[in-house]
Amino acid sequence: MPGLPAQLDTPRLHLRPIRPDDAAAVFASWVRDPRVTRFLTWAPHPDLATTRAYVADRIATPHSRTYVLQDRRGGGLLGAIDLRRPAPHRIGFGYALAPSAWGNGLMTEALRAALAWVQAQPDLWRMGDLCDADNHASARVMEKVGLRREGVLRRWAVHPALGPAPRDCISFAWARD
Ligand SMILES: CC(C)(COP(=O)(O)OP(=O)(O)OC[C@H]1O[C@@H](n2cnc3c(N)ncnc32)[C@H](O)[C@@H]1OP(=O)(O)O)[C@@H](O)C(=O)NCCC(=O)NCCS
Repeated sequence: MPGLPAQLDTPRLHLRPIRPDDAAAVFASWVRDPRVTRFLTWAPHPDLATTRAYVADRIATPHSRTYVLQDRRGGGLLGAIDLRRPAPHRIGFGYALAPSAWGNGLMTEALRAALAWVQAQPDLWRMGDLCDADNHASARVMEKVGLRREGVLRRWAVHPALGPAPRDCISFAWARD
């Protein structure tokens, strides 16, 4: 897609667009795990067919690209990061990582590479997104990358694992001065 990177590389990861033949590895690695979806808008995938449909949807969604995080040493798929360009001047994102890979700075590394790409595009003025107010791991990723905490959006999103009531979310962003 024009307007989003074709791929990104970090010291430990190769980020490339998700493909239909990734579905089995994605299902096995993170999308069926309730620890991953705790603070997300979607439920764990019950079967591979759901993951196949998810991958097809990610590929078809305009102004958006989902990159799998491929381990540069072993080649396995560790997680994914979505980059979205809902308006020409700004980027939003979302991410999830297999729990076995948590705590090693990998998503921080991936998001840092995405931010560096954004900052190198003169027509992009902002990169930011939200996390559940209790999702401390995600908030730390955004803080460590250097996004600024902008404030709390009350009752912003429903995260079904935590109940039907919309949850408070925190907005983090980088913006060009
Ligand atoms: C959010 C997420 C992508 C972070 O990825 P990561 O590569 O583990 O991130 P980091 O290693 O940089 O760690 C970030 C924070 O996670 C927390 N963390 C570290 N190890 C952890 C572990 N084993 N279990 C849970 N949280 C842990 C710490 O708060 C850490 O901050 P610190 O570096 O100041 O200690 C990952 O936890 C995840 O996939 N969560 C589920 C999906 C999700 O919530 N996505 C974000 C939606 S907004």
